[in-house]
Amino acid sequence: MDARKAASRFFTDEFIVAAKPVKERFLAPEAAIEAKEKALMQVRDARADDIPAIMAIYNDAVLHTTAIWNDTQVDAANRLAWLSQRQASHYPVLVADAGPQGIVGYASFGDWRAFDGYRHTVEHSVYVRADQRGGGIGKVLLAALIERARDLGKHVMIAAIEAGNEASIHLHERLGFEQVARMPQVGTKFGQWLDLVFLQLMLDQRTTPDLTIG
Ligand SMILES: CC(C)(COP(=O)(O)OP(=O)(O)OC[C@H]1O[C@@H](n2cnc3c(N)ncnc32)[C@H](O)[C@@H]1OP(=O)(O)O)[C@@H](O)C(=O)NCCC(=O)NCCS
Repeated sequence: MDARKAASRFFTDEFIVAAKPVKERFLAPEAAIEAKEKALMQVRDARADDIPAIMAIYNDAVLHTTAIWNDTQVDAANRLAWLSQRQASHYPVLVADAGPQGIVGYASFGDWRAFDGYRHTVEHSVYVRADQRGGGIGKVLLAALIERARDLGKHVMIAAIEAGNEASIHLHERLGFEQVARMPQVGTKFGQWLDLVFLQLMLDQRTTPDLTIG
């Protein structure tokens, strides 16, 4: 089975597993409620009214993690401009919408480098709300993002991850990404040097790229 099929099968299974009512019979009441709510979760394109939730997740990552090498929080106008720019480039911004629990994560990609020759390569990011991590949401979001990259005819996806971010590295390796580079001490946050690792996923087996730009 090719990687594309594997990713979409995983994506489907995740929802089927979450949605199976029979599972709930074996769960404690709170867990059954959680399973039901998870079953309601959908991954969809972000809208302008998702901006407050996206901004909150982003700013929390700025304040508390080394996922974003930035110390400055952003406002809603900043995130709206970012969303508009991604939409104008026909690039996805996906949110995990858990209904009553709100937006529990988001994921997006953009150009890796702004030169024509890199047009088949994108760099992405994925963020899950702090109280929802470790529950499979990151995997669902990233699998959906990979599908979108394939749909757009992209050839390579790149993740730039702080070397100590075990959750993110594990998530990416789980979905087929391979570590291709490590750059020691190229960043700093919280008073320490940070190493950057690059992981990449080959999205298709094309032997030659197209000749058109776009
Ligand atoms: C990294 C992140 C997106 C992962 O999303 P998540 O919903 O927490 O991850 P999932 O529950 O889908 O787990 C994916 C895999 O990683 C594993 N994992 C999750 N948290 C982990 C941790 N802290 N350490 C090691 N592995 C971990 C899971 O077990 C799962 O692997 P498995 O399928 O083999 O069991 C999320 O933790 C997050 O938003 N972190 C802060 C922001 C960030 O680091 N973003 C990435 C920037 S590159």
